[in-house]
Amino acid sequence: MPAPLDISISRVSAEHSYRGSLVATSTPRLSWRFAGSRRDWTQKAFNAKLVRRDGSGEHQCVETSASVLVAWPFSKPLESREIVQISIQSLGTDGSITEWSGTDVEAGILDGDEWADVRMIGCPPPDDIESPRRPFLVKTTFRIDSTASGRQARVYATAHGVYELEINGRRVGDQVLAPGWTVYEHRLAYQTYDIGHLLKAGNNTIQAWIGPGWYNGRLGFLGGKRNVHGSRNGLFAKVVIDGETVLTTDSRWEWAHGSIITSELYDGETCDMRVGESRDWQSVDVLPSPEGQLFAERSPVRRMETVKAKKIVRSPTGKTLVDFGQNLVGWLRLESHPPGQPGHVVAFTHAEVLENEELATRPLRLAKCRDEITLGDSSLVGWEPKFTYHGFRYVQVDGWELQLEDLVAVVIHTDMERLGHFESSHEQINQLHRNVIWGLRGNFVSIPTDCPQRDERLGWTGDVAVFARTAGFIYDTTDMLGSWLEDVAMEQLRDNDGIPSLVTPNCLRGHYPAIPTAIWGDVTILAPNDLYEDTGDIAVLEQQYESMSTWIDRGIVRGENGLWKEDGFQFGDWLAPDAHPDTPGECRTDPQLVANAYLLHVTRKMQGVCRALGKVKESERYARDYRQLRAAFANEFISPNGRPVSDSQTAIALALHFDLLEPGQRQVAIKRLDHLVRKNAFKVGTGFAGTPMILDVLAANDRLALAYRMLQGTQCPSWLYCVMQGATTMWERWDSLMPDGSVNPGEMVSYNHFSLGSVANFIHEAIGGIRSGGPGWKHVIIQPRPGGTLTNASVSHTSPYGRVACEWRIRGDKLLVQIAVPPNSTARVILPGVDETVASGERSYTVAWTADLTWPPQPISSTGVVPMVDEWI
Ligand code: BGC
Repeated sequence: MPAPLDISISRVSAEHSYRGSLVATSTPRLSWRFAGSRRDWTQKAFNAKLVRRDGSGEHQCVETSASVLVAWPFSKPLESREIVQISIQSLGTDGSITEWSGTDVEAGILDGDEWADVRMIGCPPPDDIESPRRPFLVKTTFRIDSTASGRQARVYATAHGVYELEINGRRVGDQVLAPGWTVYEHRLAYQTYDIGHLLKAGNNTIQAWIGPGWYNGRLGFLGGKRNVHGSRNGLFAKVVIDGETVLTTDSRWEWAHGSIITSELYDGETCDMRVGESRDWQSVDVLPSPEGQLFAERSPVRRMETVKAKKIVRSPTGKTLVDFGQNLVGWLRLESHPPGQPGHVVAFTHAEVLENEELATRPLRLAKCRDEITLGDSSLVGWEPKFTYHGFRYVQVDGWELQLEDLVAVVIHTDMERLGHFESSHEQINQLHRNVIWGLRGNFVSIPTDCPQRDERLGWTGDVAVFARTAGFIYDTTDMLGSWLEDVAMEQLRDNDGIPSLVTPNCLRGHYPAIPTAIWGDVTILAPNDLYEDTGDIAVLEQQYESMSTWIDRGIVRGENGLWKEDGFQFGDWLAPDAHPDTPGECRTDPQLVANAYLLHVTRKMQGVCRALGKVKESERYARDYRQLRAAFANEFISPNGRPVSDSQTAIALALHFDLLEPGQRQVAIKRLDHLVRKNAFKVGTGFAGTPMILDVLAANDRLALAYRMLQGTQCPSWLYCVMQGATTMWERWDSLMPDGSVNPGEMVSYNHFSLGSVANFIHEAIGGIRSGGPGWKHVIIQPRPGGTLTNASVSHTSPYGRVACEWRIRGDKLLVQIAVPPNSTARVILPGVDETVASGERSYTVAWTADLTWPPQPISSTGVVPMVDEWI
């Protein structure tokens, strides 16, 4: 038997596609990822083969070391809807050759005219368009002469609203809440479904459920509003078999109501199973065609896993409460039929926490989060709501004395590739990391949302601005965030005169103006730049450049010195622990200082973005601006010796992290930060703005022990405080649950907000020890920094080249480190006594290890009494 190859291609992909192979361009860029432990392997050239469905093909050999987002190597672009098979073989500089590895690539509808024969169809409008809209069905039949097996049979479909398709009684595709949420007036995603296996020769029935979803369901807080994007729901679809259009939505279709009475995102779904399927089908209304540009969907929402019920308890007032043991996002699936006569009502109310052992619904504000079913004759086994979703750990069940196995929770989110993993000897830090992941999953539902449970679930820009980098380590967020950023740009440039809306899609339009504020507006620069850093994809910067430069050149409202104008609103260090529950932006750090520190940060980022894009003059201009702004910032916000005017963890962390201090000043600032951290008995003092970097700043400035001490702290506020309180997701505020177990009295109290999870950067990079050394992980830095009470940790990230990993353990006076660097990339390894650059392969190091004898660092007390708040684990 030949020895297994120690170098192979583990995946070939087109553009950023993950599951599925659909691309929206005729010349997709190709990438291939490697597996194998071959040392020092770099690519010299690659062979690429293309085979068309008619058997014709092409073969190319290209001499290049590039293996990520390589320009389409074939002579002919793809045609609309064409499917080809692509295979790649990679040749190493050492003379080795990989096996061929391949993928199918399918072009979407590339010619907009192909939609010309399709009509948007719906039902007549209700009398009161401000009331919850009732979902409805549309259906028709069509004939095909022979089975579609072996043929290219597709439905291309989208909706104004949310929809689910069936053919011959069987569900089409596995997407949920399609077509997802975009700024529909500008961009509307369509889905492509392979339906060959569902069709039969003769008559076929196609049917769709359509509900309001984000299109015209209630959105926004304080009661919100309906009809944000339009008032009439409709389906827009065509069936194409082997290039021939066999059906489009048009006036020949019929509509009817079914068992779903209402279904809205916040309030839940009400079904009356006595209604059954109507016999009263009527001709559809033909509605105006979509205004928005149709584009092939890149990252659908799917059911990702199911979670079993863990416990059923009776509350003090006699309610039946089911505990799933995990705060999650999705809905219930019934595994049994609830007993009862037709007409009996069973209801499920969802919430994240209990208070006084009862369901705590106040944090949901005006979202009802209640699914209700009136029993009929049909079985409810397998029932799930269609057009709502909930953020919950607990469900109150009324009308059914059920058992644990009678229902499961279905977890949904945008289907992204999981890239990052972390594990250590510290169980609570592991739980914190799991909480970050669950917080991410629950809030990446078509768009990045602030929270999944209350009457918001909106694309708040500031939350993504501080979390995109963390998210990109754990999941491949490129498609989802890339699509959302297109919408951000669209609203900013077309609707808001250069200012991004606070939420995108902007369902607050008309209620709240697009206010220019730092961090929230800075998402235009920070998030695309993070995607570029994750993937090395320069196209992201090209796509977003106008948005980025318009924000920094025109959107930011400046005073004479170029800094943010003094009198404007700023969110500041939003939700820092010292902020009052009712005024989350007012805290110890001056919001103007925060805004301007971020201004310096984004100005410097723009300098780099322009350099990467080859815009030399612009890059120089931002470099000049940076120097001027830095001086102005120092003048306004830094004492001559180096203390920021706000004496806070966030102010000092920002000044150090964004390099806003002179060398002498840095020492003063670091000493002061050391003092503040100890004086605060290692409790966290940062909000949205300071949390992403506080621990990195301590670690980078010779205060690693303080960083670990803060991370391991369990007093409120701290990351592990939440863990010790039983959190299974990241909370919106440090004390969402108060130390006495009560729900925080403020308005902003969610148990599933990802922003404070940005601490995971420190977990991945300092504890785990890996980070990218440049755009796209072509070069990696491996530098684990063990500390605190941890004795081992392992981290991995699937980079565009393959698996990057670092695992360390302390054994007495030795530190044992194992690393993996994927083929075609390099790494700098920095360990005690080691600083070397290596190429691919697995390597082990054993170096001398000296324990930190000063651990645990001590708090400072002005009274001389060691503060009580001094717990760590
Ligand atoms: C959201 C936040 C958001 C903030 C800004 C909140 O209601 O949940 O995460 O960024 O509003 O005002």
